[in-house]
Amino acid sequence: RQKERQTLHEAHAYAAKLYHYLLRNTEAGKPAMDYLRSRGFTDKLIEEFGLGYAPARWDTLVQGLHKQGFEAAEMERGGLLSRKQEGDGFVDRFRDRVMFPIRDGEGKVAAFAGRLLSDGQPKYLNSPESPLFSKSRTLYRLHEARASIRRSRQVVVFEGYVDCIKAWAAGVTNGVASMGTALTAEHAALLRRFAEEAIVCYDGDDAGQAAARKSIPLLEGAGFRVRVSVLPGRMDPDEYISANGGEAFVREMIDGAVSAVKFQLIYLRKSHILLEEDGKIRYLREAVRLVARRDSPTERELLLKELAQEFGVSLDTLKQEVLEVRKQEK
Ligand code: CTP
Ligand code: MN
Ligand code: MN
Ligand code: MN
Ligand code: MN
Repeated sequence: RQKERQTLHEAHAYAAKLYHYLLRNTEAGKPAMDYLRSRGFTDKLIEEFGLGYAPARWDTLVQGLHKQGFEAAEMERGGLLSRKQEGDGFVDRFRDRVMFPIRDGEGKVAAFAGRLLSDGQPKYLNSPESPLFSKSRTLYRLHEARASIRRSRQVVVFEGYVDCIKAWAAGVTNGVASMGTALTAEHAALLRRFAEEAIVCYDGDDAGQAAARKSIPLLEGAGFRVRVSVLPGRMDPDEYISANGGEAFVREMIDGAVSAVKFQLIYLRKSHILLEEDGKIRYLREAVRLVARRDSPTERELLLKELAQEFGVSLDTLKQEVLEVRKQEK
């Protein structure tokens, strides 16, 4: 067991080095370099994040691992190689992809994500679950960001690899990526060991915003104070930074992230037609429910004041409603 893990760690370290070398120093890696440049990746970013390139041929890693004395069947269990569809033998799992190494809690490369250079499916291919890698327990960049998270007592959670990298370049060194929209309770508990505040900075599209909403009870359940970035126009953080620059990103999306309940109210608004009387009433009723769930009386009062003012209802009426909801939900 322990022996196999050690062997797989060594193989991943070797693969990361090889992919990085191929990206930086070979003709085959040139299209991948061009691709990264076109997306605004500097040399500094490529080095800091250890990016690489897996060539299009079927046996780059098969050959390399063999020469290093690794056993192919074991490498297949570790997710670096795949079994041939027909006949015996193995092929590289990752081909013609930009490679993002993923480190585990010990700081060792334990998995990879590979991105296609052009459109196609799947856009990202990740390592499978293996003795080294469990997606529900791993967060991209956690090992590297841990010191910064501890220092700031705050963690920023992104969906995507590139979002996390570009935010780092903008100065957000306390960022991790959930590698998709499925943040788990295990992730939340893990992060809570290092910080009290979580900022959810998911994509502005419907999937991202819905996932941000789902992450709130999960993170609050782990004891986090939660804020959410509301990205405009379905942008993701990488696109926002490209369009508006890193400073604007930090100011508007990180420092300007709204409280969990504010985000829930914004989200709720999208599904109500506030120009109509009954739409307004239904929105207010659900908004009151959200406010009623907040434990802090001050927070409740501030939110109710805003709602009262905006909708021209008295604060007392809203307070009354909150009391009733709190009684019911006890
Ligand atoms: N993801 C994945 N497999 C896919 C698609 C997405 O694992 N086929 C994960 C990746 O971690 C990805 C994240 O979900 O970074 C967010 O997905 P998406 O927003 O679709 O991709 P981006 O990160 O925006 O990718 P890019 O900017 O490179 O197009
Ligand atoms: Mn290098
Ligand atoms: Mn997305
Ligand atoms: Mn995205
Ligand atoms: Mn993107």
